[in-house]
Amino acid sequence: MSYLTSLLNSDHEKAGFSCGNYMLDNYLQKQARQDMKRKLTACFILSDEERIKGYYTLSSASIQRSQLPESIIKKLPPSYNDLPVTLLGRLAVDIKFKGQGVGKLLLIDALKRSFETSITSIALMAIVVDPINSEAISFYSKYGFISLPDSGRMFIAMNTVAQLF
Ligand SMILES: CC(C)(COP(=O)(O)OP(=O)(O)OC[C@H]1O[C@@H](n2cnc3c(N)ncnc32)[C@H](O)[C@@H]1OP(=O)(O)O)[C@@H](O)C(=O)NCCC(=O)NCCS
Repeated sequence: MSYLTSLLNSDHEKAGFSCGNYMLDNYLQKQARQDMKRKLTACFILSDEERIKGYYTLSSASIQRSQLPESIIKKLPPSYNDLPVTLLGRLAVDIKFKGQGVGKLLLIDALKRSFETSITSIALMAIVVDPINSEAISFYSKYGFISLPDSGRMFIAMNTVAQLF
């Protein structure tokens, strides 16, 4: 599969990135490279020659079966309590590029990377996100993510993602 993004590296001009959310800007500018060195997350960048248009981060994570909707739990063997998932921890688009489809491209790219991993090397039964606000919840809902009760997280099953690719 081919991807639109590349891993964040020291050549990327992070300083000017502004998505309108201080925490997401600050994360890219100050912490993302450190987290990558520590193997805590992978940060992927969509950019043109000069500017970062947007970014997202992926990590592996697990969710407990009790967090899932009953319709999914009943299809899982009882011995699996912690279920392997991808965490799409952050996703942000620079305000200069908002409303031009960049967020959608980033999300599809992230789903594709996770789906490819799940069919070639490491089993992942879903992708989860931690939406930062109600705007983010509506964005992810649009693409089929469902809210998980009690955790604030949202979820899309890998079998659903598979239908996209
Ligand atoms: C939310 C965000 C990622 C959207 O990026 P974007 O590039 O402006 O979105 P796109 O242009 O790709 O829009 C894709 C689709 O999502 C819709 N959309 C965009 N923002 C939306 C929102 N807040 N709520 C609901 N739908 C939204 C668009 O209308 C579009 O729909 P269409 O394809 O039917 O026209 C961007 O506004 C952002 O970075 N916000 C700040 C950070 C943030 O909230 N990150 C998300 C979670 S951590």
